[in-house]
Amino acid sequence: MTITTPISVSGALDGIDLTHERVLVTTGPRSGLVVIVAVHSTALGQALGGARMWQYENWTDALADALRLSAAMTLKNAAAGLALGGGKSVIHIPTGTVLTSAQKRDAMLDLGDAIESLNGAYMTAEDVGTSAELMSIVAERTDHVCGLPADRGGVGEPADATAAGVYAAILATVEALFGSREIAGRHLVISGLGQVGGRLARALAAAGARLTVTDVNLATQKLAAEIGAEWVDVDSVHTVEADLFVPCGLGGVLSERVISELRVLGVVGAANNQLAHRSGAALLDARGILWAPDFVVNAGGVIYLSMASVHGADLDAVSRRVDAIGDTVSAILSSSREQGITTLEAAERLSAERLGAAI
Ligand SMILES: NC(=O)c1ccc[n+]([C@@H]2O[C@H](COP(=O)([O-])OP(=O)(O)OC[C@H]3O[C@@H](n4cnc5c(N)ncnc54)[C@H](O)[C@@H]3O)[C@@H](O)[C@H]2O)c1
Repeated sequence: MTITTPISVSGALDGIDLTHERVLVTTGPRSGLVVIVAVHSTALGQALGGARMWQYENWTDALADALRLSAAMTLKNAAAGLALGGGKSVIHIPTGTVLTSAQKRDAMLDLGDAIESLNGAYMTAEDVGTSAELMSIVAERTDHVCGLPADRGGVGEPADATAAGVYAAILATVEALFGSREIAGRHLVISGLGQVGGRLARALAAAGARLTVTDVNLATQKLAAEIGAEWVDVDSVHTVEADLFVPCGLGGVLSERVISELRVLGVVGAANNQLAHRSGAALLDARGILWAPDFVVNAGGVIYLSMASVHGADLDAVSRRVDAIGDTVSAILSSSREQGITTLEAAERLSAERLGAAI
C-alpha cells in the first residue's frame, strides 16, 4: 500500500503533518511484519535515515514514529550541511513479540526489497533495534544501505562519531553558559548509557567532569562504577541539581512535567526527538534552560556514515566536520538569543535556509 494523498486517521497520527514526498507501508511477505519507509524530502539529495525495529502497540504508532523521525532527518541533514534529504524506516514489532534470528533476517530482507522499490530515493543505516550486522542482510536486497560491518567492506556503526558530535555540542553549550569551555569540575547528568551515552560518559569522565548517571538497563551500573559516576534512579534523574542534563536514551523525555522539574542550566544530549511536544522548547526557554536542539547535536553519526562511506574518504575531514557541530550549536544559541526566538526555531531556520537554497 503506498499512501500518496493526505490521510486522516485519528489516534496515533493526530497532529502529525503529512508533508512527506512518499510513504511506503507494506506487509513484509517473508516476516509478516509491517514495514514502513518514509521519505520526507529529497530536496537536498537522497534521503538518509536509519532503520528502527521496535515494539509498538499498533502499526499506526510505528507509522507516526516513522513520519516524525523522517521529518527530523530532513532538518538534521540540512543543519549538518549535508547534500542529503530526510527519511526513516520503521519495522513494527507487535508489543510483547520477541523475534527469532530467522524472523529478524526475514524482516531485513523485506526492508531491503521495500527500499529497492523506491529506486534510490532513500538510503538506510542502523538505528534503535538494528545493527551493522543486520544492515548486511538488507544489503542482500538493495545497494541503498550504509554502515555495514568493516569485514563486509562497510564503515561500521556510527556511535563514536555521534558521541564526538554530542561532546562538541556540550562544549559549545558550556561556553555559552559559563564563558569557558572547561569541562573539568562541571556536573553533568547522563540518562542512557548505551552506544552513545556510554562513550560520552567515558570521555566526559576522562576530562574531569563530575557525572551522575542512570539507565533502565542495570547492567550499565558496572560502567558507572568504573568511571566513578554516581548512580541515580531513572525516575528521579531529571531532578538532580547539576550544570547539564544529557538525555541519551529514547525520545520524548522532555515532557511538560519533566521540564518543570529540571534543576539544570542546560540540556544537550544524543536522544532523538527529545521534546514530547513542540511547546517544550518555549517552556525550557521560559525556565531559562538552554536547550541545544537534538537534531543538530546528534548529527555526528549521519555525517560519518555519509562522508566515510565514500571511496577514499578523508577521515580527518570527517572528524573536523563532526567537531564543527559545536560551531553550529554556538551559532544557533547566539541567533536564538539575538533574535528572541527559541533555540528550536533558530535551528529550524538554519535548516530551512539550506533547504530553501536548494529549491
Ligand atoms: N547511535 C547513534 O549513532 C545515534 C545517532 C543519532 C541519534 N541517536 C539517538 O541517541 C539515542 C541513544 O542511541 P544509542 O545508539 O546509544 O542507543 P542504545 O540503544 O545503544 O542506548 C540507549 C540506552 O538508553 C537506555 N534507556 C532506554 N530507555 C531509557 C530510559 N527511559 N531512561 C534511561 N535510559 C534508558 C537503554 O537501556 C540503553 O542503554 C537514541 O535516541 C538514538 O536514536 C543515536
